[in-house]
Amino acid sequence: MSVGSATFHSVFLGPPGAGKGTQAKELVDRGDVLHISTGDMLREHVQGGTDLGRQAKEFMDSGRLVPDELIISMVDERLVRPDAAGSWILDGFPRTVPQAEALDSSLERAGAPLTHVIYFRVPHEGLIRRLTGRRTCSDCGAIWNVFTKPTREEGVCDACGGALKQRADDREDAVEQRLQQYNALTEPVLGHYSDRGILVEIDADRSPEQILEDLVSALQEASI
Ligand code: AP5
Repeated sequence: MSVGSATFHSVFLGPPGAGKGTQAKELVDRGDVLHISTGDMLREHVQGGTDLGRQAKEFMDSGRLVPDELIISMVDERLVRPDAAGSWILDGFPRTVPQAEALDSSLERAGAPLTHVIYFRVPHEGLIRRLTGRRTCSDCGAIWNVFTKPTREEGVCDACGGALKQRADDREDAVEQRLQQYNALTEPVLGHYSDRGILVEIDADRSPEQILEDLVSALQEASI
């Protein structure tokens, strides 16, 4: 399954653990698509010990959103790099209404409008298990899950043999906080896009293969 020759600018929106990162990685494997994950970018800053990383760490570890002013400039800077000239998926941004407004302004300046906002709809009950069971490969970034997608050998990536790690914010207390922040600050972002004709709702409470099929059709349908 490929995304064909369509060029798209897509936002992936949905609660923590909805499968946004899992699906974005599948799409990257199938086509010429750039995956811009604000969570991954921030984790790189934390690991690299940058100023931004130091400021963001405390918020991230406790499951709170990083302040808008820090994240908006990071994304603005990313979207003007040459590799963002083609199709991209913005995963984890915008997450507040002010972030959505800032994205509108940047894309308007660049003359590069959004083609899709994909909403991953999933009941919240299953999310705690998805998040606390998640393990990520420290070498290739592959996403596994001790409950829903276990590796053959515990703690070892099936794809590359790298060591698996658990994210600091996948502890149960931080997960609860992330879900609360999602309900209070991110769900209203859906309203920001609801009357633009670009919002696509995907039932994300199914197998990853079924979700991918719907996603590919949606992305092929409207393009730049
Ligand atoms: P971020 O890294 O963006 O985390 P998130 O939105 O909480 O999303 P996740 O990565 O947890 O979930 P996902 O939907 O990608 O799920 P995944 O595919 O991994 O952000 C982390 C932090 O950074 C934030 O809390 C905040 O502090 C900060 N931040 C980032 N962006 C920000 C912004 N814009 N503003 C302010 N702060 C920001 O899947 C989860 C698990 O489920 C995996 O184990 C997977 O194998 C499994 N799974 C996936 N699909 C399925 C399926 N269909 N069925 C069963 N299991 C599945």
